[in-house]
Amino acid sequence: MLNFNYSIPTRILFGEGKIELLGKEIKKYGSRVLLAYGGGSIKKNGIYQNVVKILKENDIPFFELSGIEPNPRVESVIEGVKICRENNIDFILAVGGGSTIDCCKAVGAAYYYDGNPWDLVIGKAKIEKVLPIGCILTLAATGSEMDAGGVITNMETNQKYGVGHPDMSPKFSILDPTYTYTVSPYQTAAGVADIMSHIFESYFSKVKGAYLQDRLAEGLLKTCIHYGRIAIDEPENYEARANLMWASSLAINGLLAYGKDSIWSVHPLEHELSAYYDITHGVGLAILTPHWMEHVLDETTLYKFVEYGINVWNIEREKSDMEIAKESIEKTRDFFISLGIPMTLREVGIGEEKIETMAKAVIEYKGGKVGNFKPLDYEDVLDIYRKAL
Ligand code: NZQ
Ligand code: ZN
Repeated sequence: MLNFNYSIPTRILFGEGKIELLGKEIKKYGSRVLLAYGGGSIKKNGIYQNVVKILKENDIPFFELSGIEPNPRVESVIEGVKICRENNIDFILAVGGGSTIDCCKAVGAAYYYDGNPWDLVIGKAKIEKVLPIGCILTLAATGSEMDAGGVITNMETNQKYGVGHPDMSPKFSILDPTYTYTVSPYQTAAGVADIMSHIFESYFSKVKGAYLQDRLAEGLLKTCIHYGRIAIDEPENYEARANLMWASSLAINGLLAYGKDSIWSVHPLEHELSAYYDITHGVGLAILTPHWMEHVLDETTLYKFVEYGINVWNIEREKSDMEIAKESIEKTRDFFISLGIPMTLREVGIGEEKIETMAKAVIEYKGGKVGNFKPLDYEDVLDIYRKAL
């Protein structure tokens, strides 16, 4: 296990009815609020009405940023900054899934930067300060509710990149599982695949001796496997929604990655798909993951797949190591299929046309190699994209 510094500063308010603490929480950090949300799901399920009522009861003035897109665009960030500056906002409240939260994180950072917010995403300018952010999570997937990063898309340049700063961590996140009852089967499945992918990204690492982190990771993976289908079949099953919601946060808040030096592999490959084709993040990950696993499986990585197969999928130890590894990948694929996720790129509208461009782009962005479990070069990336077609 490598050395690490532990810091997970977000206060989590978990469970049904925790929204009652909203007014009190906001008042710890600010007095004029940007209320930010997506395309309107929160108006249909009543969360919006509830939040507005609480803000009014607490005499907290608020201004709205609405219509934040899935795969949030830099244009929404620019609009958010404008609203904040015009209205002397000192606190941002994100109500939604990862896209809304990520957009708010970028707005918070860009508020203190005079140039184009995209400069902060591509690293042309440094984030110095961030407006305080609070979240009301409505979709279990990205873990943005408890991490220090966001992902912003520029459709003009076909770029989708992560941006991070310790102050981007939400000050608090309200996690009420009942708020995810209205998430569609497709988005529920995509969310489960995303959570699992975050776990894989740090689990599949060459660092040995992080036994604790790996057992935690396996517990979280089993949670996703156990409750994923249940949440789709019974959208109002509190236990399933609660377990997935907490798994979403724990998968990426640092807990699993501490003591390891994992550099992510599948996420950068997926971000190219979203940047060019605007697809659902979790679906792209589910399509790529089994192909990535097959591609990186060799004598040097075999032991990790054996661990995964036995501990997560309960595959019998009597089989050969390679049999266990291959079966674990098949089971992963079958699980995503069982959630109803389309498992080829063509099914989500991606053909051969741009796979070379996307492979080049990700290699360039990553400086030559993607990931470090088994570093991928241009040919490797191309091969994974081709097999996923
Ligand atoms: O926009 P609305 O109308 O709210 O509808 C959304 C959207 O259409 C809907 N939805 C959300 N909550 C709902 C609901 N529908 C009904 N009932 C509810 N309770 O679901 C759709 C997808 O929402 P979105 O926020 O885009 O999904 P998700 O949470 O999966 O976020 C995806 C974005 O997060 C990034 C992804 O790349 C993508 O841009 N990621 C962020 C990360 C982070 N900050 O740490 C890490 C991830 O790996 C990921 O890259
Ligand atoms: Zn993800």
